[in-house]
Amino acid sequence: MSAKVIDGKRIAQEIKDEIRLETENLKGQGIVPGLAVVLVGGDPASAVYVGNKEKTCREMGFYSEVHRLPEETTEAELVQLVGSLNRSDSVHGILVQLPLPKHINEKLVIDAIAVHKDVDSFSPQNTGNLVIGDESLLPCTPAGIIELIKRTGMDISGKHAVVIGRSNIVGKPVAMLLLRENATVTICHSRTENMERIAAEADILVVAIGKPKAIDSRFIKPGAVVIDVGVNRLNNGKLAGDVDYDDCLDKASAITPVPGGVGPMTIAMLMKNTLKAAQLQAG
Ligand code: GUN
Repeated sequence: MSAKVIDGKRIAQEIKDEIRLETENLKGQGIVPGLAVVLVGGDPASAVYVGNKEKTCREMGFYSEVHRLPEETTEAELVQLVGSLNRSDSVHGILVQLPLPKHINEKLVIDAIAVHKDVDSFSPQNTGNLVIGDESLLPCTPAGIIELIKRTGMDISGKHAVVIGRSNIVGKPVAMLLLRENATVTICHSRTENMERIAAEADILVVAIGKPKAIDSRFIKPGAVVIDVGVNRLNNGKLAGDVDYDDCLDKASAITPVPGGVGPMTIAMLMKNTLKAAQLQAG
């Protein structure tokens, strides 16, 4: 039987519709959620991502400001800008687009963002909150993945979730969120032995390794929910995920496509975090 295709684009739109409604209510109380995005340098992919964030803020009815800075911006200038955004009453969330130019220490800049405005949830404090289980802003892509799994109708509690990849941005935090949902969680990575056997025991398989079509049907337990975080550009110009979608389609019960799966969820969850930050800061 063919798997259910998890339509991330549609689900992200549903979430954004909810956010827009809630924003209208907040505006009635005199609060306008505000997001500041900072882009340093001329990386074309980053410019597209930042443009999408700006456009989505407008759709949500948010206040938004985008700071496009030259490549030569110094670390001190960037930290100073972050400091002024920390103090701004109209800005509830701050996002510094990564990667930054090589002469700037990313960790230092991320650490400069006020914890309650850290809508990427990349700071050590928010990462710690995630591990402890405290109420906090959740990292966007991992939170979007949990939302996608839940909306397949699967009850995550008690299931075996296998995460392939251990990055700070996706692998580690999504494993923590799955644990919070009471899954039994295994993290696999480049040094894992018998990865195929471990993956094939997963009720939920999340793949975030950045290698096109690395995971085929041999890694899939019949009926598994498969979430593909990879976005890889092939030589023919097409996009492919980390999962060999066509090969896995008849074995999984539900699977995300690339594009149109996890990708659209990240920006929807960023908007959700900005709204949440505004609500929390309003007291
Ligand atoms: N660059 C690529 N993805 C992201 C993201 O989610 N947040 C930030 N800050 N930079 C990125």
